[in-house]
Amino acid sequence: MSSSAQASQPYKANPKQTVLTFLITLTIFSLVAYFTFFPLRPSLLLRRLHRKLPKPFYRLFGRISHALQPLLVHFSAPTDLAVAIRSFSDYSFAQQAALDAKWRSFERMGKRHRRLGQKLGWRAKLESVEGKLEANSRVTDELAALGMERARKEGVPLGLGMRSRFARQDGRVVEVLKHFVRDWSAEGKSERDALFPPILEALEKEFPKRDGAEELDVLVPGCGLARLAYEIASLGFSVEANDFSHFMNLASSLIFNRTQSINQHTIHPYLHSFSHHRSIENMLRPISFPDVVPPKGIDLHFEPGDFLKLFPEKETHSAVVTLFFIDTASNLCDYLETIWRVLKPGGIWINEGPLLYYGNPGMALPLEDVIRLAELMGFVIEDRRTLNDSKYTADDEGMYSFAYHCEFWVARKPVNSLKPPPPTSSNASPSSAATPSQ
Ligand SMILES: *[C@@H]1O[C@H](CO)[C@@H](O)[C@H](O)[C@H]1NC(C)=O
Ligand SMILES: *[C@@H]1O[C@H](CO)[C@@H](O)[C@H](O)[C@H]1NC(C)=O
Repeated sequence: MSSSAQASQPYKANPKQTVLTFLITLTIFSLVAYFTFFPLRPSLLLRRLHRKLPKPFYRLFGRISHALQPLLVHFSAPTDLAVAIRSFSDYSFAQQAALDAKWRSFERMGKRHRRLGQKLGWRAKLESVEGKLEANSRVTDELAALGMERARKEGVPLGLGMRSRFARQDGRVVEVLKHFVRDWSAEGKSERDALFPPILEALEKEFPKRDGAEELDVLVPGCGLARLAYEIASLGFSVEANDFSHFMNLASSLIFNRTQSINQHTIHPYLHSFSHHRSIENMLRPISFPDVVPPKGIDLHFEPGDFLKLFPEKETHSAVVTLFFIDTASNLCDYLETIWRVLKPGGIWINEGPLLYYGNPGMALPLEDVIRLAELMGFVIEDRRTLNDSKYTADDEGMYSFAYHCEFWVARKPVNSLKPPPPTSSNASPSSAATPSQ
């Protein structure tokens, strides 16, 4: 009995076993089918899995860190102003440290080679660089002093202890010195002439009458050292200039509040790098600024700080002008929505620049998608073209240069824009599409 029962056992269908067998067969079949239809090397498959698997986690962490952002701000001291002050006031110290490394490298060479260096006057050259640093630090010291004044006036906590020492950003000081050349010196004229005319012409064409009868408010976010904002104001517009960076804001303040005469300041902006110089004279050559002193009565106002927070009111400006700006956004949608909100119906947004994305923005879109995004928000692109090469804080006498091929466009917020065109893509959320018209 028992033996016959045992013998018949294997022929009885065991439901668990059947399912397992089915699953194993299915898996093997799927794998064979997968590799037949998508002949992949296993490493490629792994890479694909590696790309796909973490996505739900990115989504989760993105949501959480978005929710925590207001809290995290309190731990992210020191402020940009404190960092700017520290960086300007330590300019000499930081540059001297870089030069010290040059001295050490030279002294590490063998005696015979140092003698050759001596014939080339290398030590004297290093000394002359040190001398010119002093001239630059006269300007950076003044910027630091302006920063202290502003911090006192606005009650900004400076946190000038160790934290800001470590937060020093020497590169941004050098950048400011080069921006004085670009924006406010005769040498920078060629860079300005490659970029300003299309913007100024578009404004003049759009607003031929600037007699004060109509309020023509132009907003220039990311104004840097504000030369463009100044040129727009000179055409008879009322201009609000905004920049987030206190490095830039303090430098504008030097031009607009501490400068009485043409070429009052002199710097040596090219001594920070030893590369690409044809001669030490080129490297150390002085540049004076400003080439014009902005008159006091000009209708130009500064709003330092976060562009996204400073202009909460709707429909306040006739035009918004962005030059080398939109690629600084951590979320381009926020920038475009803000531009949309502050524009009066019928107002224009003029943009010019490349797409040099900073950090890790929400979307680092290619140009065609930036345009498409603007259209999804309701803008109508009216004029668009690619500009000739434009250099950026280049040394015209050096052995190196690069150029941007900037895109220029004029986009209008239509008068009847209560309903922006419906997004064509089905997964665009209705709330984001509705925001601009609020
Ligand atoms: C110049 O000083 C005035 C008064 O302190 C200030 O309102 C203005 O913003 C300053 N200009 C710049 C460019 O910082
Ligand atoms: C751009 O380059 C072309 C060809 O080199 C030249 O004819 C034109 O004047 C330039 N445009 C501007 C705005 O400089």
